[in-house]
Amino acid sequence: MNNNGNSPREVVLRTQNLTRDLNSGAGVVHVLRGISLEIYKAERVGIIGPSGSGKSTLLGLMGGLDSPTGGTIEIDGENITRLSEDKLTEVRNRKIGFVFQFFNLIPTLTALENVMLPIEFSRSFKGSPRKRATELLDMLGMKDRVHHRPSQLSGGQQQRVAIARALANNPPLLLADEPTGNLDSDSGKLVLQALRDVQREIGTTVVIVTHDPAIAGTMDRVLTLIDGQLVEGTAVMQNQRVAVN
Ligand SMILES: Nc1ncnc2c1ncn2[C@@H]1O[C@H](COP(=O)(O)OP(=O)(O)OP(=O)(O)O)[C@@H](O)[C@H]1O
Ligand SMILES: [Mg+2]
Repeated sequence: MNNNGNSPREVVLRTQNLTRDLNSGAGVVHVLRGISLEIYKAERVGIIGPSGSGKSTLLGLMGGLDSPTGGTIEIDGENITRLSEDKLTEVRNRKIGFVFQFFNLIPTLTALENVMLPIEFSRSFKGSPRKRATELLDMLGMKDRVHHRPSQLSGGQQQRVAIARALANNPPLLLADEPTGNLDSDSGKLVLQALRDVQREIGTTVVIVTHDPAIAGTMDRVLTLIDGQLVEGTAVMQNQRVAVN
């Protein structure tokens, strides 16, 4: 992200020595082995790494969907490491937007209704949910499709609705796990372009897990996870070179 050094960068997410052990049939697997990182306001960060390296596990911890075995996580200045399930749900609702590979829209609701739903559930939102949802769908290029149901939309369009829904309550942090993994490359590009446009407009911090080096290359920064640890190396260098060009 641009930062000319004049102002300290605001940290939206910080993990310190984060570990996650999981029990498999064969014993304990050390899925994450000491992840320390900081992600700054309005930054766009990509996470890449081989299958099984721990990317989804890390994203789940960042978003409070799961709790770590060791280490700490702070979101937007709040330590969420040892919160109760209820408190964690509350923090998640206020601070995190999630986008998944398979959209996860409610099939019986229209695009507009899908986006309105989390706004209606939010206790803090004071305006009109319909107006807010319409604006977001408009920003994502879905103005002409607001009354369509998911089955009447293409995959890329469904994902743009899912992004609008994730941003509905204006969370400081948007987390996306392979958001283009189920799309052809042209639809994937459109989705990412829409995400970037809306992100520029509202300044949300975005973390995207992806297998696609071309996508990673469009991010401000790329983190590479191998075998549960962040590594610096050629994959990072290559992607950062792409980002500069
Ligand atoms: N519930 C579980 N119990 C035991 N092991 C698990 C569990 N969930 C995940 N794992 C293991 O944790 C490791 C990391 O899984 P994770 O889903 O985070 O990988 P990933 O990097 O997202 O992979 P992919 O690119 O295939 O999505 C894998 O070796 C996986 O087998
Ligand atoms: Mg994964």
